[in-house]
Amino acid sequence: MKPSAEPDIAQVTELQAQLQVLKEQLLQSEKLASLGQLAAGVAHEINNPIGYVSSNMKMLAEYSSNLIHLVKLLGQQVTEESRSALWAHFDFDYVCADLPKLVQESEQGLDRVVEIIRDLKDFSHIEETEFVEADLHQGIQSTLNLVSNELKYKAEVVKDFTELPKLYCIPSQLNQVVLNLLLNAAQAIEQHGIIRIGTGFDDRWVWFQVTDNGKGMNSAELARIFEPFYTTKPKGQGTGLGLSLSRSIIEKHHGVIDVSSTPGSGSCFTVKIPRQLPE
Ligand SMILES: Nc1ncnc2c1ncn2[C@@H]1O[C@H](COP(=O)(O)OP(=O)(O)OP(=O)(O)O)[C@@H](O)[C@H]1O
Ligand SMILES: [Mg+2]
Repeated sequence: MKPSAEPDIAQVTELQAQLQVLKEQLLQSEKLASLGQLAAGVAHEINNPIGYVSSNMKMLAEYSSNLIHLVKLLGQQVTEESRSALWAHFDFDYVCADLPKLVQESEQGLDRVVEIIRDLKDFSHIEETEFVEADLHQGIQSTLNLVSNELKYKAEVVKDFTELPKLYCIPSQLNQVVLNLLLNAAQAIEQHGIIRIGTGFDDRWVWFQVTDNGKGMNSAELARIFEPFYTTKPKGQGTGLGLSLSRSIIEKHHGVIDVSSTPGSGSCFTVKIPRQLPE
């Protein structure tokens, strides 16, 4: 006897297409996870040498200022004429002025590297694949720091943060969502614009919002943006998986992602995550 609910060809084709999308999403999220792992691994490795270079730099600052002082004192023991000749030969006045500046600049450079490492670690949180209580602002800030270079040519970033309760989430995954929304916003701006990132909460939700004054989208585009592989970016630039992956992440958090947009004026993406996870 023929089974009563035998799937027809169209259903099978549809299921195969859905399976293909899920496979691609999984691949993309595994790629992101292993990128995060790589980043955290590199950050960890760099931490150690940066630690001793930093402390050596502090000693170098102290030793070099002592040495300059010593040479000046010794200079007083020789004649004015030979001192001037030696000073000129070794460009001593210039070295005295330049050395502390070089050391100071190097210390600032090292501080910047330390910050980048901290942001990379915050961003990737490889050890966390489970829900934990986290500070959403910290995640947004470390993501902003990581892309600040890419954003600064396209937009001024304006933060509008409200004090938030702790949020129960998978921080590294929310960071991926923030990253994609920020990059999309920057990519939508043709010359130079403004990206606003705001946060807030009510009894039920904690939310964040990324607004840009870029090219916006019409309703036909809006209807498709969460489709996997939908992209308007040139070949090789966008995979079209950013928003579909972001939506999967938000759904995993039992949250919602909404968008409003006006062609020519800009777009606003709002992500809401429930404060209490459903039982
Ligand atoms: N802020 C925005 N302003 C205007 N269009 C947007 C915005 N965000 C997304 N889009 C549109 O939605 C499409 C899909 O976005 P999505 O992030 O999924 O993929 P992508 O950015 O094209 O590629 P990927 O994120 O994989 O690099 C974009 O190509 C763009 O057309
Ligand atoms: Mg994108």
